[in-house]
Amino acid sequence: MNKFFLDLGKQPLANNYLSIYKKKQTKYNLKLFFNTKNKTVSISKRIPSEKMFTNKYPYRSSMSKTMRNSFYKLSLEIKKKFNPKKILEIGSNDGALIKNFNKKIVIGVEPCNNLAKITSRKGYLTYNKYWNFNLAKKIRKKNGKIDLLYSANTLTHISNLAEVFKSISYLLSNDGVLIIEDPSLLECIKKNSYDQFYNEHIYLFSAISVKNIINKFNFEIFHIKNLTTHGGSLRYYIKKKNNKKLKISRSVHKQISKEIKYGLHKFKTYTKFSTNVQKSKRNLLKILNKLKKNNKKIIGYGATAKAVTIINYCNINKDLISNFVDVTPEKINKFMPGKDIKILNYDRNILKKYDFAFLGAWNFRNEIFNKEKKFLKRGGKFIIHVPFPKIIK
Ligand code: TYD
Repeated sequence: MNKFFLDLGKQPLANNYLSIYKKKQTKYNLKLFFNTKNKTVSISKRIPSEKMFTNKYPYRSSMSKTMRNSFYKLSLEIKKKFNPKKILEIGSNDGALIKNFNKKIVIGVEPCNNLAKITSRKGYLTYNKYWNFNLAKKIRKKNGKIDLLYSANTLTHISNLAEVFKSISYLLSNDGVLIIEDPSLLECIKKNSYDQFYNEHIYLFSAISVKNIINKFNFEIFHIKNLTTHGGSLRYYIKKKNNKKLKISRSVHKQISKEIKYGLHKFKTYTKFSTNVQKSKRNLLKILNKLKKNNKKIIGYGATAKAVTIINYCNINKDLISNFVDVTPEKINKFMPGKDIKILNYDRNILKKYDFAFLGAWNFRNEIFNKEKKFLKRGGKFIIHVPFPKIIK
């Protein structure tokens, strides 16, 4: 049974950055539910993938040093621990992970044509397709079974999880390994980072929910790693149950115990979260309005999908945050979805004109602080909303 716990209001498609601001944009009710049976948190309204993952998808995995490093480190680990003969990545984006492997052994799957083109042009076999059973059949026929399947920040975007795991099961060899990584529900609740929810993020997983979802497909988690990426993620190492060669490490029990201790299996945890989110909205608006009254200029740093949730939920317009800045070419000179706030191209001097920077990309806080030492030195300050809205001194 799905139980409602939070209404984040009407939200546009999070990655639909428009060249011309339109007051009337298609928006969808963003409501969050907790499934009492498998303990998964999800949004209610499912938008067809074709509407979200188009040939102009602006999200690029390799735009931050943090993510490039994270993928590089993982590639070394995969080579050392599993030494796979064939690797496939579901949602290969602009190739941030696959570029670390020999072209002969790696396959990408990427539905967004503009991104798939980047890797196929470089000579990486890339299927410009949505992940489903038909595609799994096609790939297996052509390439045989796969030893290592990987997917980061993608499976949570696909509504039909049964088809996702059925297709993975079909393509993965019997002693193969599936690695998935996604933002951690526990970290989201702890940090009150409600901006992890937008229409693309259909699910937010915990170890408890992943265990329940994959159980039906004869998969089990054998190892879990906590990552700092995306505000706190979990990397799940998964195997087929009949593969006895890989042992289940203590990390699995440890993570599940942590989640149970925090109450992730109980509905009341989510009603409490809902109250905290509403409080967070009031307090962020208080800070921004006070700064506006004192004629301070505020820019948003990182035109993230997460920031789209915040500005639409809190109804923040350009009178409060005059612009956003971002390094992604696809976002420059466009408007933040749902709002009249223009995204400017990043250059070293851009922050000079502003007193405060609201951290839309708070998950890259360290990388950004390192980069913006000059801004901080001349008295510039960052505003962050996690775990509660505050000005960072
Ligand atoms: P991310 O937090 O991964 O995104 P989302 O919420 O959309 O999933 O995106 C980070 C965004 O911040 C991305 O658009 C690139 C941008 N960015 C900068 O503009 N400058 C930076 O120094 C960093 C680290 C990121």
